[in-house]
Amino acid sequence: MRCITLDSETDFDGWRDAVRPLLAARIPCEALGWRVGNTATDLFSTMGDSDLFKVTDHPQYPVRITKTQVAMCKRVLCHRSPERLYHLYATLLRLQTDPYALDDPLFTSGLWVREADKNIRRDVHKMHAFVRFKKVGERLVGNMMRENFCAWFEPDHRIVEHTADFFARRFTGMDWSILTPDGCTHWDGKNITVSPGVDKSMAPDADDTEEAWKAYYASIFNPSRVKIGAMMAEMPKKYWKNLPEAELIPQLIQQSEAMSRQFMSTPETAPNIRTEKVAPEVYAQTTAPINISTLAEAEDAARRCTQCNLHCNATQTVFGQGPMSAKLMLVGEQPGDQEDIAGAPFVGPAGQLLDRALNEAGLDRGGLYVTNAVKHFKFEPRGKMRLHRNPVADEIERCRSWLTLERQFVKPKVILAMGKTALLSLTGHKGTLKSVRGGSFEGEFGETIIPTVHPSFLLRLPDPAARDREYAQFIRDISRAEKLTKEAA
Ligand code: URA
Repeated sequence: MRCITLDSETDFDGWRDAVRPLLAARIPCEALGWRVGNTATDLFSTMGDSDLFKVTDHPQYPVRITKTQVAMCKRVLCHRSPERLYHLYATLLRLQTDPYALDDPLFTSGLWVREADKNIRRDVHKMHAFVRFKKVGERLVGNMMRENFCAWFEPDHRIVEHTADFFARRFTGMDWSILTPDGCTHWDGKNITVSPGVDKSMAPDADDTEEAWKAYYASIFNPSRVKIGAMMAEMPKKYWKNLPEAELIPQLIQQSEAMSRQFMSTPETAPNIRTEKVAPEVYAQTTAPINISTLAEAEDAARRCTQCNLHCNATQTVFGQGPMSAKLMLVGEQPGDQEDIAGAPFVGPAGQLLDRALNEAGLDRGGLYVTNAVKHFKFEPRGKMRLHRNPVADEIERCRSWLTLERQFVKPKVILAMGKTALLSLTGHKGTLKSVRGGSFEGEFGETIIPTVHPSFLLRLPDPAARDREYAQFIRDISRAEKLTKEAA
């Protein structure tokens, strides 16, 4: 019998170092016991500290474990059940001789580990969605004031360290701490640090952001689409105590019928006279995407789109291009003069610059899905030239349904949003690009959205030094997107 002692419940390095030689010697699970600090955790055996056998006395075999399985072990180690250590080891041991062990419906430990992994992923997803920061102070860094936020959260499992990277990417620009009973994580704009868990009495008090959350929630609440079952599944009651907006839910549900009746009985408002003047007949014939079940159908429908006026003067719809298997999607603004003629995105000067940057970042454009937020070229005739004009918010919004379909069918893990228009369409972010550069957003389909500049911006920079600097930063953003894609795939 041999007892393995881990420094903490989530001591992954200690666990990995202990498990490797045991797997190499094919030591059976029953010969092992597990302890964390001074606590025996293994339900299946109890023993003292003694080493009754030496691993090195056994024959040694190569250890087989894939990167995906390592990542899974790291997650499952966060599970709160003491059984995890037994089942993890039993699963890895079986995987040494049977690479398909995790698919065996009769292999109890494999099933346990898969279920635990699913629970951890769900717990992480809920934590991403339900952490609510409250402002607790500010500090001066150089000549910049950094705001300091704190959140209290009670995850089902010991996942706080696991989620720190996500929050550091999402809230790069502020200092934050996330407190949980098992551990706390902190971000100061440069580093993530970890400290022991704390009691709920340390949770921050209410602040103004609570009112903002409530106002936001009330504004997106649709009284005619209340589905209590689906809502409770998405936002289980156990999270309500830490969600400021949750106190509105009973009241909003209660009022929903009356609110719907009021909507129905309110007379239609008159159309906006300025819109009517621009193109009444065009907006009247809409081809919003309905009943579309493949990307090819989406492209076909987009070719006939008349949802805004841009189709009137453009040569054709320029839909996205790239393999359905692409895990990284690039989104630009709208086709330019050459794209409008060729019917393909990014083939003109901005496309050439993009190709060069992708090459330098070591990426092959053939493996990426490249598209635009707006699918028609918007321009102003000037002599023989067609001068690019920025699409307005309404045009971006009307075209968003096509981009949404591209996202739904291609299912990229990461999207590089090139420029303000792409970012607005993908995330609704209306602020400056600068304020979010270096961070990321979580897309509505779970993708990570990385903001960066548009290649045309680089082409327009008059100062060569600034252009070089910005170009280098653009390549760094591409590389970061590619790294995150690999991690997520
Ligand atoms: N600019 C874009 O945003 N998209 C293109 O396809 C070409 C230029």
